[in-house]
Amino acid sequence: MGSEGSKPVRIGLLGRGTVGAAFARLLEERAEAVAAATGRRAEIAGVLTRGEGSFEQILADSDLVVELMGGTDPAREHVLAALRAGKPVVTANKQLLAQHGDELFAAARAAGVQLRFEAAVAGVIPIVRAIQESFGVTEISKVFGIVNGTTNFILTEMAASGAGYDEVLAQAQKLGYAEADPSDDVSGADAAAKMAILARLAFHTPVTLAEVPFEGIEAIQPDDLAYAKELGLSLKLLGVAERRDGGVSVRVFPCFLYRGHPLAPIEGPFNAVMVEAPAITEVTMSGPGAGGLQTASAVLGDVVSILAGEAPVHETRSELPMVADVTSSFYLHLEVADRPGVLAQVATVLGDHEVSVKSVVQRGAGEDARLVMVIHECLESRFAAAIEGLGELDELRAPPRSIRVIEEQFQ
Ligand SMILES: NC(=O)c1ccc[n+]([C@@H]2O[C@H](COP(=O)([O-])OP(=O)(O)OC[C@H]3O[C@@H](n4cnc5c(N)ncnc54)[C@H](OP(=O)(O)O)[C@@H]3O)[C@@H](O)[C@H]2O)c1
Repeated sequence: MGSEGSKPVRIGLLGRGTVGAAFARLLEERAEAVAAATGRRAEIAGVLTRGEGSFEQILADSDLVVELMGGTDPAREHVLAALRAGKPVVTANKQLLAQHGDELFAAARAAGVQLRFEAAVAGVIPIVRAIQESFGVTEISKVFGIVNGTTNFILTEMAASGAGYDEVLAQAQKLGYAEADPSDDVSGADAAAKMAILARLAFHTPVTLAEVPFEGIEAIQPDDLAYAKELGLSLKLLGVAERRDGGVSVRVFPCFLYRGHPLAPIEGPFNAVMVEAPAITEVTMSGPGAGGLQTASAVLGDVVSILAGEAPVHETRSELPMVADVTSSFYLHLEVADRPGVLAQVATVLGDHEVSVKSVVQRGAGEDARLVMVIHECLESRFAAAIEGLGELDELRAPPRSIRVIEEQFQ
């Protein structure tokens, strides 16, 4: 969008909920700053909610569309229509981008207009801008981090108080850190959508939500966290996107980190993302992962970038295969019968699958006897087969519990 003198830029606002209302307020409050930064004034041309506005009219009246409705229908049709009409679009909608990214980026490219979405990933942290612009021609090897504030709040509280998952979830809902229906957050699905977007940008390859396996935090037990604390570990729900074996691996899973890891001290509803590349070593950014004002601020930043005329274009440069089987270290928790020879039996099953133990502690006695171990890095498929084998042992009183461990400490 070039400079057109003092004529204001008209913004079509789709959705005026938590983020949309905060955006409208912020646009008004920061009007002078926006004008100073871009040479253009910006104003709301029309608002669409379920009870107000006509999309066709708003589209006709606007120069730029801000989509803050959420969901994929009708957001997808509206964003496509705006792009095809040659109007730049800003959205905070991760589901839309993770599910329909190919179609949306193609429409933006075909029309030669910008599609910006900083607020869709990691709230106010400018990770999209960093990957697309600062590291735009860097050979990124890995992007990973804590991209869901709800789960980070829950895990932080469980570790601090020793309370169970259900109790802490209820507390998070009361405090507004978790929604009434928290399933997308706690299952890892929300983080998976964000990692699909980051992987696409970092590796210039099409990645959709359906290709990202995810595990959530629902099954985490307070005693896992208690043992981990003793071992100097903290538990995070991590999203990881990395180059592996000529392809890319993108996954979401709960994971233990040692104290020296830059993500270990990220607590409460905060997010943090790390980018690794040979040319940059590693960069970590952290900040609030959500919130109406914070998200609106990221949306306004995108609007300002469009008005200022910067133009990153997302291009697919290759179709890298998705690598499903990768190597990981694991924490393994076994509730065992209190009999001689149990440890040897467990070791035999692990050995049969070429899975080796780094450290082991025996805890409790009688009905409370358990083996807690850390497993050396091995192929995940091999570890899964070993777990299946362990599950068949009569000496186990409950199914095995395992959580990945990242041993890297960055010191
Ligand atoms: N909240 C956050 O902290 C946060 C953080 C990062 C990203 N986001 C993303 O930002 C977007 C907006 O989130 P939000 O929390 O602001 O949502 P919200 O409070 O539920 O607001 C949604 C708005 O969109 C309107 N809307 C929804 N479906 C519509 C339809 N079919 N037709 C017309 N209008 C419709 C709603 O209209 P009514 O007012 O009539 O209901 C409401 O004004 C989502 O994509 C979300 O994932 C939110």
